[in-house]
Amino acid sequence: MAVVKADGYGHGAVTVARAALEGGAHCFGVATLAEGIELRQAGIEAPVLVLGSLSQAEELRSCLQWQLMPTISGMREALLCQNLATGQGRPMALQLKLDTGMARLGADWQEGPRLVAAIQGLECVELAGVYSHLASADLPSGEDGGLTACQQRRFESVLSSLRQQQLDPGCLHLANSAGTLRSTDLHYDMVRVGLTLYGHRPAGHLGEDLLLQPAMHLRARVSLLREVGSGVGVSYGHRFRTSRPSRLAVVSIGYADGVPRQLSNQLEVLFAGQRLPQVGAITMDQLILDATDCPTLEVGDVVTLLGRDGDDEITPADWSERCATIPWEILCGFKHRLPRLSDSEASAVEAAPLAPDPERAR
Ligand SMILES: Cc1ncc(COP(=O)(O)O)c(C=O)c1O
Repeated sequence: MAVVKADGYGHGAVTVARAALEGGAHCFGVATLAEGIELRQAGIEAPVLVLGSLSQAEELRSCLQWQLMPTISGMREALLCQNLATGQGRPMALQLKLDTGMARLGADWQEGPRLVAAIQGLECVELAGVYSHLASADLPSGEDGGLTACQQRRFESVLSSLRQQQLDPGCLHLANSAGTLRSTDLHYDMVRVGLTLYGHRPAGHLGEDLLLQPAMHLRARVSLLREVGSGVGVSYGHRFRTSRPSRLAVVSIGYADGVPRQLSNQLEVLFAGQRLPQVGAITMDQLILDATDCPTLEVGDVVTLLGRDGDDEITPADWSERCATIPWEILCGFKHRLPRLSDSEASAVEAAPLAPDPERAR
C-alpha cells in the first residue's frame, strides 16, 4: 500500500498515486474521505483504504458511493455499513483495525476474533482485511521497551485464534515504513509504506543498504537583491543585524508555503556549490539570504532549499532536527500554494529567460 494521505506527504497525492501505481503499488492509504474522493475523481480505480476514523453514517455512505474502504474499530461502524449496504443493495468492503499497543484507533486486540466472527455474519459487509499499527518500530529493538515484539505477539495471537476458528480475515497488515525496514517478519500480506515511498528513511539505523532518493526538491527564485551597510536590521523584529556591508537576496517562499518559521536564522540554501545562510525572521511569503559571499547570485536565480545541488544535499531530517520535529511534519507542511513540478517541468521553468531588465535596456 502506498500511503498518500496529507496530499501525498506534501508531494501531491494524485501525482504520487499515479507514480506508485506505475511502480507496482496495489492500493492506497488515505486519512480522510476527501482524500479518497480526490483519488477517485482523478480516475484512480485501485483499492483505497481510509486509515482515519469515519464515525458518521453520512461519511460511510460516501465511502460506499465512491468505493472507498473504511477502517472500523468496532461493531457500531460495522452495523452502520451493513444498514447502508443493505439499503443500496450492494456489498460494502471494510477493514477492521485492532489496537495492539498504540492506544489510538482500533478495537482492543483481545476483541479481534469475536469481531471478525460477528462481521463475517453480516450479509452485506465484506471483511477485506485486519490490521494494526506499530507505535515504536523506528526505535532500535533494544530501545523500544520490547513494544514492537509485544505488538506482533498480540497480532499473532489474534491470527492463531482466527485460524483455529477457520475465520478468514482477508488481507493482514501491520508494518509502516519502519516496520517494513525492520524485519520481513512484520510484512504479512501487505506493508503500508509512507515516508520511505518518498525517499526517506524513518530512522538512521533502518534501511542503510537502500539507495533511497528523495522524491522532492524544494526550490525557489531570488526576486530581489539589495546592498546594505553594516549594522542594518533584517526582517521582522530585526532578529539579524548585518555585521559588514552586505548583499541580501530576497527569495519568494515563506512559512505560508511550508518553510517553518522556527528555522529563522538557522536555514541554509544551496546555490552553485555554495551554502548561503538565511538571515532574519522567515516571513509569510519571503525569506532573506546573506549573499555577500556569493557575488554570482542574480535576480531570477533558483536556489535549493531541500534536495541536492552538486555534491551537497539538504534533507527534511536536517530541518526537523533543527526545529525539534520529525521529517513527516516537514513534508506534510508544504501547502497547496507551492506549484508541484515534475523534473522536466522544473528544468524548463529554471531555464526560461528572464524578462529583459528595463534599466539596462535604456
Ligand atoms: C495507519 C498508518 N499506516 C501507515 C502509515 C505510514 O507510516 P510511515 O510514513 O511511517 O511509513 C501511517 C502514517 O502515519 C499510518 O497512520
